[in-house]
Amino acid sequence: MRLRDQFPLLTSDPKLHYLDSGASSQMPSAVIEAVTRFETTQRANVHRGVHRLAEAATAAYEGGRDEIAQFFSARRDEIVFTAGTTAAINLVAHSFGDALAPGDEIVVSELEHHSNIVPWQMLRDRRGLVLKVLQVTDEGRIDLAALDRVLTKKTRLIALAHCSNVTGAVVDLARVVEAAKSVGAAVLVDGAQRVPHGPLDIPALGVDFYAFSGHKMYAPHGIGVLWGRHSRLEAMPPFMGGGDMIRSVTFEKTIYAPPPTRFEAGTPNVSGVIGLGAACHWMSGLDWTRIAQEEMRLTGRLLDGLAQVPDLRVLGPLGLQQRIGVVSFALGQAHPHDIAQILDRHGVACRGGHHCAQPLMERFDLPGTTRATIAPYSEDGDIDALLTGLDEARRLFA
Ligand SMILES: Cc1ncc(COP(=O)(O)O)c(C=O)c1O
Repeated sequence: MRLRDQFPLLTSDPKLHYLDSGASSQMPSAVIEAVTRFETTQRANVHRGVHRLAEAATAAYEGGRDEIAQFFSARRDEIVFTAGTTAAINLVAHSFGDALAPGDEIVVSELEHHSNIVPWQMLRDRRGLVLKVLQVTDEGRIDLAALDRVLTKKTRLIALAHCSNVTGAVVDLARVVEAAKSVGAAVLVDGAQRVPHGPLDIPALGVDFYAFSGHKMYAPHGIGVLWGRHSRLEAMPPFMGGGDMIRSVTFEKTIYAPPPTRFEAGTPNVSGVIGLGAACHWMSGLDWTRIAQEEMRLTGRLLDGLAQVPDLRVLGPLGLQQRIGVVSFALGQAHPHDIAQILDRHGVACRGGHHCAQPLMERFDLPGTTRATIAPYSEDGDIDALLTGLDEARRLFA
């Protein structure tokens, strides 16, 4: 059976070549059914009720946390639910960042998604910090050789993407963690593009925070996770106040709940958590060695095909080492939106634009790129359709 057959949206349209999973992946039936089951048989608010439905909803919700924790080899009290990667990073920028002192330094890189740039700029301006930027090599990788020059005794946090959403480059986190330790800095990883590509032992990475979104890993929109090392979370104040995140409230004083509840004010995205738990369960049943091989075979095939297109420039590593199947390219002077529209006529869903990474576009002097993402359900036919569409684009724009 093709993996694609587990995805109702893909089977409903055999002519669709969905290569935009870097933006949002599709959801398998197992996830859709888990969410539908909750909404049709268990829907109620969690934690507060004592009636049967409320208890069933709470059990399903906390069961989702267990499933997610197990998938990432983490403690359940280290899994904080957020609306996504952006919300997770903003949480750290407030709860960790607001304790920093003027002159303290935060290090990001030139290839970060805006969600791992703007919250730090806002924090810099709130607290009088210094924001330092690691440059990107011509191959589209973060230049880790510069770490020694950039880090100082004042570095408090290094915040980097595990995998670039533009170039597909995977960063050597062991090297980042070692460098961070040498100056006593914390490490936050934006794992949005890493998590769709298989299981991961997050605590073993040695980082302090790991942020990701459900909608890129076969789960619903609007749910994400901040994984935080327990000692870090315990030392942090809440970002938002409200229901659920307290132990007790009087007008004189509120005592906060321990993590993760401390960071989860208000009614949570219950069906999102259940969907993300189901996605983790579904992912843990797959053969990721085979999927990784297949993803790399298709990525190689795509890169080979792109190499044959005149006047086309790939932004990112041309080899298959230390990369995921996120492939960005520019075709002559053609605007990426125009290319994406022509590809759409061939049934190919690709992303065209700056991918929320304007500083990286500036680094490569481009207004944007066209991006294709290889996912577990990608097939040879998707690559063929993309290359055929590009051929038409080239003829139109040449
Ligand atoms: C690398 C990276 N970081 C962060 C984000 C933001 O994720 P979200 O919009 O789900 O918060 C994205 C989404 O495209 C991404 O690719």
